[in-house]
Amino acid sequence: MRKNIVAGNWKMNTTVPEGVELAKAVNEAVANANGIKCDVVIGVPFTHLTAVKQVIDINKVGLAAENCADHNSGAYTGEVSAPMVASTGANYVILGHSERRGYYNETAQMLKTKVDLALEAGLKVIFCCGESLEEREAGKVEDIIKAEISESLFHLTTEQWSNIVIAYEPIWAIGTGKTATSDQAEEVHAFIRGLVAQQYGQQVADDTTILYGGSCKPSNAPELFAKPDIDGGLIGGASLKAADFMGIVTAF
Ligand code: PGA
Repeated sequence: MRKNIVAGNWKMNTTVPEGVELAKAVNEAVANANGIKCDVVIGVPFTHLTAVKQVIDINKVGLAAENCADHNSGAYTGEVSAPMVASTGANYVILGHSERRGYYNETAQMLKTKVDLALEAGLKVIFCCGESLEEREAGKVEDIIKAEISESLFHLTTEQWSNIVIAYEPIWAIGTGKTATSDQAEEVHAFIRGLVAQQYGQQVADDTTILYGGSCKPSNAPELFAKPDIDGGLIGGASLKAADFMGIVTAF
């Protein structure tokens, strides 16, 4: 069964006390809301995981790290590994965000390793892909998406694939206020589902959750989520205010 998911990506925002307050507010809103039709996840900085875990009901609000290392342990000063993330009680990790690919030079090969280590540690992976404006204008959207997904994920078994969530995030729509239109997003989501079907079969593709990310907010979420291949969102800016985030959670 395909799941709808709305996941927050706080990025490098909030101090620990601020993050704990935000997590409490989201947890309380989710607990008090009736008939939520999606799973809710919050993606928080490494420093916040342990404290946030203590103030949420993990059965109602999933907890994600925003990255993990491509090694499990050892002399990698400043890195945080997948087993470390899992040991906080977090159950998800966001991998391959365009900010990590762009600013920290994460390659497809590195991400493949990170995906393997995350799954091995028992984490579910929210795997991001998406094209830049130049790539879109050059007609390369499908080539980029296919390369990003196949190079880092298509070595997985069908069983492993059940712990993968895809997030399509056109880079030109992230934090810019420019949302992809629901038709533009649906076109790429349908393409991604087709790729998954080719690799793993139609049933697995039908069960795969594909999120949209990029300036998603309460006002545009209903139209995006109404599309057949858009199963929720990965939310940056609008996840930093509990009311806005809940406005998206309740958009289904
Ligand atoms: P945005 O970010 O919602 O602020 O555009 C989305 C993301 O980068 O995950």
